[in-house]
Amino acid sequence: MTSISLQNQRVLSGMRPSGRLHLGHYHGVLKNWAKLQHEHECFFFVADWHVLTTHYDDPSIIESSVWDMVIDWLAAGVNPGSATLFIQSKVPEHAELHLLLSMLTPLSWLERTPTYKEQQEKLNDKDLSTYGFLGYPLLQTADILVYKAGAVPVGLDQVPHVEMSREIARRFNHYYGREPGFEQKAEAAVKKLGKKNAKLYNNLRRDFVQEGNEESLQKAQALVDGHSSISIGDKERLIGFLDGGGKIILPEPQALLTPVSKMPGLDGQKMSKSYNNVIEMRESEQNIETKIKRMQTDPARVRLTDPGEPDNCPVWQLHEVYSSEDVKSWVSEGCRTAGIGCLDCKQPLIECVKRETAEFKERAKEFEADPDLVKNIIAEGSEKARDVAKETMQDVREAMGLSYR
Ligand code: TRP
Ligand code: SF4
Repeated sequence: MTSISLQNQRVLSGMRPSGRLHLGHYHGVLKNWAKLQHEHECFFFVADWHVLTTHYDDPSIIESSVWDMVIDWLAAGVNPGSATLFIQSKVPEHAELHLLLSMLTPLSWLERTPTYKEQQEKLNDKDLSTYGFLGYPLLQTADILVYKAGAVPVGLDQVPHVEMSREIARRFNHYYGREPGFEQKAEAAVKKLGKKNAKLYNNLRRDFVQEGNEESLQKAQALVDGHSSISIGDKERLIGFLDGGGKIILPEPQALLTPVSKMPGLDGQKMSKSYNNVIEMRESEQNIETKIKRMQTDPARVRLTDPGEPDNCPVWQLHEVYSSEDVKSWVSEGCRTAGIGCLDCKQPLIECVKRETAEFKERAKEFEADPDLVKNIIAEGSEKARDVAKETMQDVREAMGLSYR
């Protein structure tokens, strides 16, 4: 299947509202979002419906979790001037697409999703044999496809869901992508490329269709991709025309695997609320100091004069995240020779974490003081998102025979 290169792609990602975020979220996800927002058109949303798939019995936690989380996004430097921030349930088009896609989604695809059985076993105090929970990855598929997103930054555990959205998009295009008069429309689109480019496109297309020349295919895709004045619909036709397929109504997204951050928690395990080992993004200075001072160290260092081994110490793992080479060699040397105490060793970390979180707290201040600011950002973002989603739904309804009035 042909796809357009990653550049110029719309980026979309969602996060389940889980209340105040911690440094693991920052280093694992938000830092990446804040970077992507300068490189791509970005849509980031609160997946509040997804929470209901597992917490339908306790909806009371959702609302405060939503606002706390969005403030932490803003605190991390995710900027509503660069990225569109919104809430899933404010864009009902996600639900309509979910419904329509459910018509063509084989049950076996959903049952086969690795997270389905895993989560059911993990959350075994809950009854997760529900229709909504089975449909979790399809709702995620709708989230992605309703924006025709090209790239979806996710962690490894979510890759199968993005893979499902590719398969569903392909199935959708296969059933509905053959618009009447496709060839004529594609040929008209070729003319719109301009005389020189049209000739080039036709030659490259012939090279690919007749000779199977992959390089020509790629060149032709780049030509279409780089053309600034033709519509997205025409671009899709031109790309579809290259490999003989129909029009691509719902483009296949790519998972953009978030570089793994091994953000350790206070006990050396992965930082996670459920392990009770987190430092929150807006943690107070006092708490930061207490939490780091209380961290377990290498158990071999009972007395100050006992040498230690950084590899056996969770504090060292934090140095790996925060410290310069100089500080790190001061630590490993001082630890192994009992030249420094554990409290000395922790001091530079306390400083680093305080400095990092000071920036978050500074950014968060105005939003904490005036919740309406946050609500307005989300209201505006949701409206913007909705405009895009509405356009996709027009194409989808038309393709599925539902465009009568
Ligand atoms: N399922 C994702 C998670 O648990 C959240 C999510 C929902 C999402 N919809 C999405 C992520 C769409 C990326 C794209 O982390
Ligand atoms: Fe851990 Fe540092 Fe103490 Fe060594 S000196 S045991 S690395 S806290």
